[in-house]
Amino acid sequence: MSKLNILRYPDPRLHTVARPVAQVDDRIRRLIDDMFETMYAAEGVGLAASQVDVHERLIVIDTSDLRNEPRVLINPEVMAASEEQVLGEEGCLSVPTVYDKVLRPSRVRVRALDREGLLVEFDAEGLLAKCVQHEMDHLMGTVFVQYLSQLKRTRIKTKMLKQARDDER
Ligand code: NI
Repeated sequence: MSKLNILRYPDPRLHTVARPVAQVDDRIRRLIDDMFETMYAAEGVGLAASQVDVHERLIVIDTSDLRNEPRVLINPEVMAASEEQVLGEEGCLSVPTVYDKVLRPSRVRVRALDREGLLVEFDAEGLLAKCVQHEMDHLMGTVFVQYLSQLKRTRIKTKMLKQARDDER
C-alpha cells in the first residue's frame, strides 16, 4: 500500500467530473487500499478518488469512532433524500483547517457497489449521511466551500494559497 497525494483547493483538478468505474478489479482494489491508507493517515472520515486525482466514481468512508468500519462506495447513487435538512459543520482533507456549515438532507438512501463489485443499499443518517453527500459532491467536481458565500470562498482561497507557499519552504 502507499499513501497518495491529496489535491488541495483551489486546484482546478478538483472540479473534474468523475466517470463511472467500469470494472471492480485488482487495479480498483489497490486504489481502495491506498485511499484508506491515505484517509486514515490524514485522520479524515471520507475520501473521494477525485481528491487523489483519479477521476472515477469511488469513495472510501469510515465514520466509526474506533476507525475500524471501512466502507467502500463504487458508482454510488442517492436513491432518496429526506425533505428534512440539517445544517452541519463540514471540513475536507482538500481544504485543511477550514470548517463551515452546509445545509443538506438529513437522511439519504444510497446504492453502490462494494469492493467485491456487489450491490449494496443502505440508509444513512447523521455523520454518515453528511459524509456520503460531501464525498459524492467531490465526484461531481464540487468542493464544500462552493456552498459558502463568495466572500468566504475568496478568503479560503487566499488562506490555502498562503498555506501552500508556506509548505514549500
Ligand atoms: Ni472533502
